[in-house]
Amino acid sequence: MTDTIDQTSTQPALLSVADAKKLDLGEVRKLTMAHLNPGQLHFMRLLGFDRVLIDRAEGMHYIDSNGRKILDFFGGFGSVGFGHNHPRIIEARKTFQDEQRQEICMAFMSQYASALAYNLAAIAPGDLDMVFLGSSGSEAMEAALKIAEQAQGPERSTIVYAENSFHGKTKGVLAVTDGALYRSQFKLANNTHRVPFGDIEALRKAFAADRSIGILVLETIQGGAGIVEAPTSYWRAVRKLCDEFGVLWIADEVQCGMGRSGRFFAFEHHGVIPDVTALAKALGGSKCAMAAMIARKDIYMKAYGNPKKALIHAPATFGGIGEACATSIEALNILYDDHLIENAETQGTYLIERLEALRAKYPQIIKEIRGRGLMVGVEFADISNTLPFGLRHMVSLLDDKLKGSICGFIGALLLAQRDVLVAFTEYNRNVIRLEPPLIVERAHIDQFVDALDDILSRGITGIVKDYIALIALSK
Ligand SMILES: Cc1ncc(COP(=O)(O)O)c(C=O)c1O
Repeated sequence: MTDTIDQTSTQPALLSVADAKKLDLGEVRKLTMAHLNPGQLHFMRLLGFDRVLIDRAEGMHYIDSNGRKILDFFGGFGSVGFGHNHPRIIEARKTFQDEQRQEICMAFMSQYASALAYNLAAIAPGDLDMVFLGSSGSEAMEAALKIAEQAQGPERSTIVYAENSFHGKTKGVLAVTDGALYRSQFKLANNTHRVPFGDIEALRKAFAADRSIGILVLETIQGGAGIVEAPTSYWRAVRKLCDEFGVLWIADEVQCGMGRSGRFFAFEHHGVIPDVTALAKALGGSKCAMAAMIARKDIYMKAYGNPKKALIHAPATFGGIGEACATSIEALNILYDDHLIENAETQGTYLIERLEALRAKYPQIIKEIRGRGLMVGVEFADISNTLPFGLRHMVSLLDDKLKGSICGFIGALLLAQRDVLVAFTEYNRNVIRLEPPLIVERAHIDQFVDALDDILSRGITGIVKDYIALIALSK
């Protein structure tokens, strides 16, 4: 070992993009193990997701390295709103590049960032007019919490959040994300108060008991909790209560917004308008990272509206960069030109109808169908106690996470045997989360429901046995 750095050392042996495209499944697995997240591979292995290498993606499908088409009902947790590589999005990006438009433009104003902000203000109801652009849902939610706190002042900085909430994993929003796994042992802001989701009396009690509460943050449809909604009466009462107590309501629409629920914002179903909201995921046109916090004008002006305060929370380096803004502008236009919000409503209704018919057919296996538009959860019965003893033992050996959760087995079989990809939920392991792109057609829904029907027709014991044969015994 030398203790000086060799200044003449040659260039490191780097992989090129062409090299990356040529990596095979084994090589990708090895690099993931060595440099990305070895622990996560464990879960991919349990689901058989580590056996697939995606070559490209188009519309409703991934296409793997063997040319197999996989129907995407996962939708990147809502981020593939427009389907993969939508031709208009690709065209807008290519044109932007061919014209050598400016990308990083921090010294000057940007026509793209201002046009995107204008569009979002035009879409958002009421006086939700001021926009902060970022790159992730967490960043938009950080911006939401900060603007609310800045506007309310230190005396009203306590934040109420809901049980089973998910608002992101950066350190600030983690304080209002209710997942023990994610919170781990981090030291988080403690000016928070947790209430059950959908319980207006708990909210009233909290507001009345603590005058330092000035902020309420809620997902309009809880995704990580297992697609959980509250009724219109709750949201109307939330709005009233916040007005009564001078609390600012932040609606997290990162997952359920952008038309997924059958309205642009899910809160529009309930005829109420929050004080601050946040979008991300599909806002990037399913092609890039884009996020937005949208606040009421008076709140914005109070928080950052004069030169002294304007730079307190100005965008980060990549907030509102050129091509991402152009992509989002095109995405918003596609959403309306192609009537994708109406499609989410129509196809979502059909999906739920077909799933309800499956529930009637398999009442022992499917417990409940929840959701609206194309944000749908299928909750399965907990099998931890009903499984035959021999299988119970085998299942418990497989993994703590999948124990009692038949949806891991169903998801693995859907992918391996029926070429369909579905997602799961963070806090409720018995729920399969369905968030297909908003371009989904009836035939895709039929393909998905028929595939699920085939798997469920095997009965719980058959599903578990098939899963074990697929994953555990084929190693
Ligand atoms: C409701 C909600 N809020 C915030 C986030 C965080 O978004 P991101 O992963 O882009 O940081 C997510 C991500 O899943 C989400 O579902």
